[in-house]
Amino acid sequence: MTDAAKVSVDGKDFDYPVMSGTVGPDVVDIRKFYAQTGDFTYDPGFTSTASCQSKLTYIDGDEGVLLHRGYPIGELAEQSSFMEVAYLLLNGELPAADELSQFEHTISRHTMVHEQLATFFRGFRRDAHPMAILCGVVGALSAFYHDSTDIHDPVQRTIASHRLIAKMPTIAAMAYKYSVGQPFLYPDNSLSYTGNFLRMTFGVPAEPYEVNPAVEKAMDRIFILHADHEQNASTSTVRLAGSSGANPFACMAAGIACLWGPAHGGANEAALNMLREIGTPDRIPEFIARAKDKNDPFRLMGFGHRVYKNYDPRATVMQKTVREVFDALKVNDPLFDTALRLEELALSDDYFIEKKLFPNVDFYSGVILSAIGFPTSMFTVLFALARTVGWVAQWNEMITDPDQKIGRPRQLYTGPTQRSYVPVGQR
Ligand code: SDX
Repeated sequence: MTDAAKVSVDGKDFDYPVMSGTVGPDVVDIRKFYAQTGDFTYDPGFTSTASCQSKLTYIDGDEGVLLHRGYPIGELAEQSSFMEVAYLLLNGELPAADELSQFEHTISRHTMVHEQLATFFRGFRRDAHPMAILCGVVGALSAFYHDSTDIHDPVQRTIASHRLIAKMPTIAAMAYKYSVGQPFLYPDNSLSYTGNFLRMTFGVPAEPYEVNPAVEKAMDRIFILHADHEQNASTSTVRLAGSSGANPFACMAAGIACLWGPAHGGANEAALNMLREIGTPDRIPEFIARAKDKNDPFRLMGFGHRVYKNYDPRATVMQKTVREVFDALKVNDPLFDTALRLEELALSDDYFIEKKLFPNVDFYSGVILSAIGFPTSMFTVLFALARTVGWVAQWNEMITDPDQKIGRPRQLYTGPTQRSYVPVGQR
């Protein structure tokens, strides 16, 4: 491990310190690069850029490893709960039993939204995409919770963090209810975090709603798998928005907007729509050929990843969960067989092998969510619900990081050099 990186620019040599983390690649500290060389570095998409130091999540893309505060995602998915993972990400350690029950109690006391917030939904068309509603309503939270928008007050940061984690299920369920023309249900805090969400989503005032324990467990596990994922696009969006001092509600709305893209969180909806378009396994070769065709913008949704060049460990757990949900609900979906066959054929195809394209977290999630009863338009809303825990934890870490300042990248300018204005009569 070197302690400095040597860079030569215009014949002059410069040394830049190399910093090491606890695990993973070292980083070259180039904060003084422009001041010393007069040049910028160039890294569109930030494929080789570390934007911050973080203790939250570690990913080894080559090995397919994902750790939250050091704990492997497979162990958390099997043995933990979403609320416990939320506590872990926010506080750094697994909670003792009393700490966990206190945290769950605190979160449950923030599950209701301001009664006036319900009127926001009335402004949307009934066929509005739930992500459009989520984006608008979460941003509007800053108009209701002024007492937790001072980002320099740790008490207000904590209250805002708890409010966001607690209210996302309520708002997500309201977005769904609004789209199907059913009345909103208030939270029932005698239920678990995930059970409460399932009841607010699928329950109706006309009769009691029984939470199916197997579905509750599968849904809670799906939330764990989506909780946090290092400096992905939406998390980086939250951090960049937060770096200007924007309030936490506005920052999360920015993260929701970014997550919506089909290359990111919108891929779960796109992947199921793709499986429906493929239909039966005999049509898979046609779609694999299209995914390989440079002239065709089609990509296999739910495949590939910026970091994982191995199997996404979350996809492994997700695939196993499909069977559990099918058995619990006594359902089957031929699209799962299509998905399994598509994975088998893609992973034996030289194009996918050479480009190291494996199924990611979004490939199987849609099959499960559809079996539980969610429409595809709700899939990314569920991703956002779960990722709010990661966004909030990353936002808190950014606010308290002494190295952080407002994010302001530069550019390689390729436009016209200075020229004089020409009056319209002389053009
Ligand atoms: C998520 O960052 C995160 O951590 C995200 C996430 C999280 O938890 O926050 O993990 C969640 O967003 C998962 C990814 C969901 N997206 C999809 O499933 C959409 C389909 N996948 C791709 O669009 C793509 O793989 C990305 C966007 C996920 C990653 O793209 P990169 O890293 O920018 O890679 P690339 O586009 O440069 O692709 C490398 C090559 C290209 O071919 P060449 O130009 O080198 O010839 O692989 C090809 C791509 O064309 N390729 C694919 C492909 N994905 C990449 N070809 C066919 N099908 C695909 N799915």
